[in-house]
Amino acid sequence: MTADTVSIIMNPELALLQPYPFEKIRLLLDGLTPADKPAISLSVGEPKHKAPAVALDALVANLNTLEQYPSTRGTDELRNAIANWLVGRYQLSEPEQLAAHHILPVNGTRESLFAIAQCLCDRTSNRRKVLVPNPFYQIYEGATLLAGSEPDFYHIDSNADQNLADITDTQWQQAQVIYVCNPGNPTGSVLSENGFKLLIEKSKQFDFTIISDECYSEIYRATPPCGLLEVAHAMGNTSFNRCLVFHSLSKRSNLPGLRSGFVAGDATLIKQFFQYRTYHGCTMPGPVQQASIAAWKDEQHVIENRNAYNEKYKAVLPILNTVMDVDEPAAGFYLWPNLPIGDEALTQALYSEQNVAIVPGSYLARVANGNNPGTNHTRLALVAPLEHCIEAAERIAQCLKKLT
Ligand SMILES: Cc1ncc(COP(=O)(O)O)c(C=O)c1O
Repeated sequence: MTADTVSIIMNPELALLQPYPFEKIRLLLDGLTPADKPAISLSVGEPKHKAPAVALDALVANLNTLEQYPSTRGTDELRNAIANWLVGRYQLSEPEQLAAHHILPVNGTRESLFAIAQCLCDRTSNRRKVLVPNPFYQIYEGATLLAGSEPDFYHIDSNADQNLADITDTQWQQAQVIYVCNPGNPTGSVLSENGFKLLIEKSKQFDFTIISDECYSEIYRATPPCGLLEVAHAMGNTSFNRCLVFHSLSKRSNLPGLRSGFVAGDATLIKQFFQYRTYHGCTMPGPVQQASIAAWKDEQHVIENRNAYNEKYKAVLPILNTVMDVDEPAAGFYLWPNLPIGDEALTQALYSEQNVAIVPGSYLARVANGNNPGTNHTRLALVAPLEHCIEAAERIAQCLKKLT
């Protein structure tokens, strides 16, 4: 039998998934020759700063824990370390209660942001929409589709509060879940306390769950962005009803390969997600738990990490501002400039004339109401070393001066 004639029964929702942006870029650049210069990538948002030694040492010192199966709930020590971090960062109270009922370790936020939709979405409900930011982190869309729900894309730009206020009551009514990315990838915009208040009030009024992806929370310019649990707590919602936050060590601690994060919030939802995960089989290996404890307990490396990104913004923005309209985002490690030419055209030109890799903004968004909000934007990830970021900004400026 040839491959063509084999008929395999599969989950039809798989056919709804779109290729990842990097696959689309590969096709966009296919057949082009890169300029004969050292390659610089501003495309993948993979942290490149040094991982903290305390975490790496703890990882290696605990290899013997691989001799046991880890539990889905993680060790008390890990949940306590996370609870203490949350209390310190977001002015919460009762760390023991948090650790006991409100926290689960996850193997990075990517898998858990996907899995939570499979756990929360009701395929039989007549409100099968999931509110998804646009532009977005593509996992939200895939998670929604594979959970048998339908994404309802809401616009996101530099004014995240206004973007939430623009969501209509009909949209809230039809949604079972909203994904919020705060700080936002790719825009870098953040919700204020009032923005979160509106969200929490709407979730109570219309009874939907808030999934707040806060994995960039520690990479900010001047002011620490507030978080969903912090605002819920301050509003008296100390049980965090309908609220879940997702945090990660990937960006905070430069440990994207460790695959370590946590979900925290509403104890009822956490209990259900715990049960889901016992079947899903995602447990955090013992050495990873120990490394994570060390990382959550240490802030010095986080300060250094943040400073390193802030230095890059200071150096790169004056260069880019000579050729494009680009603001310093409140948080995150991306730039999301307005481009004077098309995003795909610039991506191709930068590759063939300067050997600089960027992401076309339209690849990080979907057409909604006849408009793709990423068109004429690009996402630049300032993850390369400072001098490479400066060099890339100079090459972008040179390329755009020639093209415009
Ligand atoms: C917005 C956003 N959420 C979640 C993730 C996943 O991060 P991790 O799985 O490493 O925690 C990323 C990674 O780039 C991201 O940009």
